[in-house]
Amino acid sequence: MNPHQDERPDSENDRHTHSSPLRRVTTRRLIEMKKNGKKIVCLTAYDALIGRVLDEAGVDVILVGDSLGNVVQGHDTTIPVTLEDIIYHTRAVNRGVKRAMVIADMPFMSYQVSPEEAFRNAGRLLKEAGASAVKVEGGERVADAVSRMTEAGIPVMVHLGLTPQSIHQFGSYRVRGTDDIEAERILRDAHILEQAGAFAIVLEKIPSDLAAKVTASVKIPTIGIGAGVECDGQILVCTDMLGLTVDFNPRFVRQYENMYERIHSAVTRYGDDIRSRNFPNIDESY
Ligand code: KIV
Repeated sequence: MNPHQDERPDSENDRHTHSSPLRRVTTRRLIEMKKNGKKIVCLTAYDALIGRVLDEAGVDVILVGDSLGNVVQGHDTTIPVTLEDIIYHTRAVNRGVKRAMVIADMPFMSYQVSPEEAFRNAGRLLKEAGASAVKVEGGERVADAVSRMTEAGIPVMVHLGLTPQSIHQFGSYRVRGTDDIEAERILRDAHILEQAGAFAIVLEKIPSDLAAKVTASVKIPTIGIGAGVECDGQILVCTDMLGLTVDFNPRFVRQYENMYERIHSAVTRYGDDIRSRNFPNIDESY
């Protein structure tokens, strides 16, 4: 089925969508999908080319994740990523995307200082980068920032469980929420952030039964990454599922392609052709 087929204007009187056959996935649409038991398909992207492929393949939500610090910039953590980096990559992704919701990840220190600063930075991601929503990591401690942004009309997705910006506090990337105290805290944080106005919750690397409990107890969609099948949707880092990120094989990644090997093979053949004077041939020359 064409993934665009079920997107219809909200109202015949909506002059902004009336003439367009396509419209962006909205927060309301995602909440409806949860209500109707329709799974939400999410992936990360960092440029226009991949953004376009994902969009045309029917992905509902494209996250410009601060994982770009690892997979694009080559850092060990997401900590060095700046707001300017996210603005740059979100603009690029947005140029390739027509239907999916594009969410910009707020990098470390862009929302923790104060709700006012979070609001100003999130505003830049919508105004300058063209994001439809932002994502922040953390529980109760980000609730005031989430309220400030949502009250001003900025949709906010929150991220609980393993939150990579807290790696220096956690000390490792192990599964979170495995003991009763932490599991209770994650459940409580989900409720607090729903109350604060968040429209969706990413649950990263927590036990499936805890993710199922959170999913059943909030009205907003949960998006899992290493959090089991009961979440309302799933997300992976696109370079992981495409097999481009080598040396990173956590159990929650299903690799759908081996792009590293395919690109390696294509580039090797290209080099061989140049060295053997097989490229370019007469048809490829003027
Ligand atoms: O930065 C990122 O890509 C993320 C997803 C893995 C959820 O936060």
